[in-house]
Amino acid sequence: MGRLSGKAGLITAAASGMGRAGALRFAAEGAAVAVVDRDGEAAETVVSEIKAMGGQAVAIAADLRDVDRAKAIVGEAAAAFGKLDFVWNHLGHPGPGKVEGMAQEDFDLAIDLNMRSVIATTEMAIPELRKVTGGAILFTSSTGGLIGSRYSPIYSAVKHAVVGFSKALALRLASDGIRVNTVCPGPIDTPMFVQFGSRPDQPQRAREEVEASTLTVVPMKRLGRPEEVAAAACFLSSDDASYITGAALPVDGGFTAQ
Ligand SMILES: NC(=O)c1ccc[n+]([C@@H]2O[C@H](COP(=O)([O-])OP(=O)(O)OC[C@H]3O[C@@H](n4cnc5c(N)ncnc54)[C@H](O)[C@@H]3O)[C@@H](O)[C@H]2O)c1
Repeated sequence: MGRLSGKAGLITAAASGMGRAGALRFAAEGAAVAVVDRDGEAAETVVSEIKAMGGQAVAIAADLRDVDRAKAIVGEAAAAFGKLDFVWNHLGHPGPGKVEGMAQEDFDLAIDLNMRSVIATTEMAIPELRKVTGGAILFTSSTGGLIGSRYSPIYSAVKHAVVGFSKALALRLASDGIRVNTVCPGPIDTPMFVQFGSRPDQPQRAREEVEASTLTVVPMKRLGRPEEVAAAACFLSSDDASYITGAALPVDGGFTAQ
């Protein structure tokens, strides 16, 4: 029996990177997974992969910058499976590198994708999660949400906010039996990784250069794999983590231990 056997839920930004790895892992552990992403075609591909291994999944195409869509996906996922046991708010955006002279649109996008949308989805999820036993909410922050990132103070600010929201919500929902936790990835080998060391409003650097400079500060001297974050997310979303709430778990090769 899988770790998530009999459970159902949704993962946002699940067509690529860690979200995709999570969708595959959660499904392999027995969960029915709503794969939510702006890229509907890529989400369908993930669903096909899950079905090919005998799992249960649906794709939900949604641009989550649209708050109405960010709210609606909860009802759509719950309708597909008849209930909701977990929600992994994985959506996020690297934000601007600049503070002085940053573009207002870059700031707005960072707020919208890392916070506004995530909070909108969570708002709708709470009543659904109250209906089940063992409901779990998971957020994706970052090591930049635990310690300052000189590369993007704005990203650091919004990812700290995600951790703060998660901890406060854990307190609010503890008596309802809903657990709320956050994963804080370090540098993970996904398409988004390069943007952290080379944001669009910063001097552009090749991926190899970003990777090499990143590895000088990572004790384990390698990038993380999306599957390694998916494993932590799976644990935190499962009943194996039944006494864990309000945690912000670094998955970072030791980066924040320094
Ligand atoms: N990769 C890293 O090194 C790293 C490190 C720390 C934290 N994170 C966090 O992880 C999350 C995403 O990371 P990833 O590396 O798995 O990303 P990724 O680039 O592999 O995938 C991002 C996904 O988000 C989807 N997306 C983008 N905008 C969207 C929107 N408006 N609505 C719906 N879907 C949208 C894309 O289509 C894509 O499938 C973010 O919260 C990010 O802040 C990443």
